[in-house]
Order: sequence, then structure tokens, then C-alpha cells
Amino acid sequence: MKAAPSLLSCDFSKMGEEIQRVDRAGADWIHLDVMDGHFVPNLTIGPAIVSAVRPYTRLPFDVHLMIDYPLDYIDSFADAGADIITFHVEAKSDIKKTIEKIKSRGIKPGLVIKPKTPAEAVYEYLDEVYVILVMTVEPGFGGQSFMADMLPKVTAIKEECARRSLEVYLEVDGGISEKTAPAAANAGVDVCVSGTGIFKAKDTAAAISAIKKGI
Ligand code: DX5
Ligand code: ZN
Repeated sequence: MKAAPSLLSCDFSKMGEEIQRVDRAGADWIHLDVMDGHFVPNLTIGPAIVSAVRPYTRLPFDVHLMIDYPLDYIDSFADAGADIITFHVEAKSDIKKTIEKIKSRGIKPGLVIKPKTPAEAVYEYLDEVYVILVMTVEPGFGGQSFMADMLPKVTAIKEECARRSLEVYLEVDGGISEKTAPAAANAGVDVCVSGTGIFKAKDTAAAISAIKKGI
């Protein structure tokens, strides 16, 4: 599996250095959580910060939008240097238009589902996306417990993609650590987002390596 450290759990006063730290420790993607205080009850970073930390690594920036109107902000995050932009099916922008807008900026699009949203909610978009992100916690905060009962959704989406010969990354986000990564691997996950599991680990490289191995 790939490991995507979530900057939500890094030291925000030195975000650039924190990115370099996980880059050196074996990270595959850098996961950036954008929250607007409406879609989720928390506020985090916007395009200015994404742009400021962009020069610190060449790894792909995986920007996870937890905002009501993702379509209105695609240009801003594209200009800031996003490589992948994922947004929620539960958000208020038109899904097809938002996917098209992301693609038109040369960025890889992805859809995210919250714990209460069924796997089937993304099926009609599978041929248009690069990644599907299945939340394994309620979005909004780092450090919550992994919801293992979300993994059957990963397997179902993976099987649907296989049935239709589609290559789509399956990503999970929330409560992933070296302890929970094996269950994710068994379910067919390709990319593990991990905030506290990586940034709060005693040995960053060991934590990333264990998550990637998934054993
Ligand atoms: C939660 C965010 C996650 C969060 C994960 O809304 O989408 O990316 O940072 O943090 P951990 O790994 O600590 O659960
Ligand atoms: Zn996230």
C-alpha cells in the first residue's frame, strides 16, 4: 500500500520541515485536509498554505476537501499546486461538473464518502475518477478510532471496479496506524492516509514502512 501522511497532525508552526521529514521517511503522497467550518465542524488550511508548502517536496499533494462548495475552489487549489483533489459526494456542488473542472486543470479527481454513505453512492462516477476515498472516521478531526466496519465498502467498490475493468485507487482515511493497516490491506486498500499514526509515532520511518507493508 501507499502511505499518505495527513498534515493535520503535524507541527503547524513548521509545516515545510514536517513535509520533508515524512518525505525522507518514505511517504508516497502528502495528504492535506481542507475544512470550512460548515461541511465539518472544524477549520484548517486553505490554498495560501498549500501554496506556501508546495516547494518543500516533489511528492503528490493529495488535497481532501471537506467543504460545502468544492467546485468554487478548484481553481484556487489547482493554482496552489494540488496533484489530486478529492471532494465529498455529500457536498453541495454538482458532482459531475466538479470532476470535469478538476480534470480541466490537469488534476486527478477523487470522490470521498462519509461513514454513513453507502458504497453505491460512487458507482456512477467510477469511470471518471482516479481515486475513491472511504472515510474510516467521521471527517473533521484527527486522532479518532478506526471504524473497521467501513472496510466492506472498500472491497465492494474494488470489486465493482474490477467487474468494469476500471483502475481506481482505493484510499482510506481515519484511525490508520500500523495496528489497523493490516485490516485495510486485507480489504484491498491501495492508499492509507495516516495523521497521528505517522506524525505522533516515535519512529516515523518505521511507522510509514509498517503501514505500507500492512502486516
Ligand atoms: C479527518 C481527516 C483525516 C485526519 C486523519 O477528517 O480527513 O485526514 O487527519 O487523522 P488520523 O490518522 O489521526 O485519524
Ligand atoms: Zn483527510
